[in-house]
Amino acid sequence: MKKLYLVLAAFAFSLTACQKEAVTNEPLSSNETTHFLPPLMGWSSWNTYHVNISEELIKSQADAMVSTGLKDAGYLYINTDDGFFGWRDETGLMHTHPDRFPRGMKPVADHIHSLGLKAGIYSDAGTNTCGSMGDNDERGIGSGLYGHEQIDLDLYLKEWGFDFIKIDFCGGSELGLDEETQYTNIVNAIHRTGRDDVSINICRWAYPGIWAEKIARSWRMSGDIQDDWGSVKRIIGESLYLSAFAGNGHYNDMDMLEIGRSLTPSEEEVHFGIWCIMSSPLLIGCDMTNIRPSSLELMKNKELIALDQDPLGIQAYVAQRFGDCYVFVKDIEQLHGNARAVAFYNPTEEPFTFNIDLKTLELGGNVKMRDLVHHTDLGDFNGVFSYTVQPHGVLIVRAEAAQRLEADTYEAEWAYLPFYNELGTRRRMINFTPEEQASGGMVVSNIGGQEGNDIIWRNVYSETGGDYEMTIYYTAKNLRTAKTRSLVVSVNGEALPMIDDLTGDDLQALKVNVHLNPGYNTVSMSNPYFWAPDIDRFTLKKN
Ligand code: GLA
Repeated sequence: MKKLYLVLAAFAFSLTACQKEAVTNEPLSSNETTHFLPPLMGWSSWNTYHVNISEELIKSQADAMVSTGLKDAGYLYINTDDGFFGWRDETGLMHTHPDRFPRGMKPVADHIHSLGLKAGIYSDAGTNTCGSMGDNDERGIGSGLYGHEQIDLDLYLKEWGFDFIKIDFCGGSELGLDEETQYTNIVNAIHRTGRDDVSINICRWAYPGIWAEKIARSWRMSGDIQDDWGSVKRIIGESLYLSAFAGNGHYNDMDMLEIGRSLTPSEEEVHFGIWCIMSSPLLIGCDMTNIRPSSLELMKNKELIALDQDPLGIQAYVAQRFGDCYVFVKDIEQLHGNARAVAFYNPTEEPFTFNIDLKTLELGGNVKMRDLVHHTDLGDFNGVFSYTVQPHGVLIVRAEAAQRLEADTYEAEWAYLPFYNELGTRRRMINFTPEEQASGGMVVSNIGGQEGNDIIWRNVYSETGGDYEMTIYYTAKNLRTAKTRSLVVSVNGEALPMIDDLTGDDLQALKVNVHLNPGYNTVSMSNPYFWAPDIDRFTLKKN
């Protein structure tokens, strides 16, 4: 099975492999090197130009990607967003905008390729594009993929030779299309073009559900970013609990960068740094022919780019919350190794001093800290780490500990929820719900009630394996029809007997004994028939 996993992982980017069984339910193993495609890096025309684009403009941005050194820093894609559409002829064939792209899109893609770069294009899953609605671009009416999937994708990917496609959903929403069905139709049409190397972005402005990982290299998880701090902060707030849904070469897309526009230098550090620790795609959104030096330097910051492109391809999770301030952490370089990346994020209007016990970050003994934004060593720390972060600021470090500790707490906010999405399509959807008494301020609610609606931790680590006492913290609030709740705990697919009669509005602690294997284990909590209690976290203590 381990072999199969590695093979699937190596080809996770090809459409054929992406359409196979999701490999993400496999527990991870700490000494495997992965071979995933990293988050995509490049530039996109939308943030600065909206639909006001042209052949000359796109070509000059591609030239600037090379002359600024951004290509050498790892940025590879030049993506033409909405605005190139012209009209469909009687055969259904799409033509480009007569003024903006009078020679069609092939010369654009050819120019980009001649520079050793890759070319991206845009469409909509429905009939009309977003630009036809939000930007009054009437050329976008009837220009989406719906009903023209094969003819459009053959043109864009096979004839013009584009290597990436962002697929929006304004037209899809207008028609009331089912996301999974229509994006699957589209990906099947892409497969039929014979291009198995095309990167796909789902642009549905919300976490779409785990089906997306079989289709796309990335998916947008928020509404559109704007050129202001409030928007950066909002998107970070929406990405707090999505870490379990990224991985294996598939990423949450926090949207195109607003760096080099009107954010302050410190806000730009937050924006770029958090996008990197979250392993978001990095798509520059400013005019690359005229970038102020500090913004250019930040976007070329090698240590932050390495964090984004880290070979493990995982997203940071919330290790600790202090009101509106958060500490994010993720493994880098090696799973369960001694090095981790940590971000101390202060979005508030006052300076904030973080005091964090390094054990919470699973870091033991002497811990060396290096500031990745400013390329400076902060020194060696032991015990509690204290650091003051300025308003709208962040400290991002590579922390290397003498000893990597076993986690003793697993928060519900870190778990994989196969039935979760943010499309608002189901009543009583499994969800992250604020709960004052919960350790991270959140519980996962609406677990169970049916087969598969589970909460799953796929990375429960035990150095040597053995018997543990597991304490599960839950609430059983808002009991409607049933008077109690019940829960099935499984470890590595083996279910313990169902635990019945769970009640209590306040946070409750429930103890069970479990056996863990050495390395990574999968723990799940479910209930195939009834509602399970809301879960805050579980802790482990070795017997
Ligand atoms: C939507 C997308 C944006 C952009 C525009 C184009 O709003 O979310 O990123 O592509 O459409 O019209």
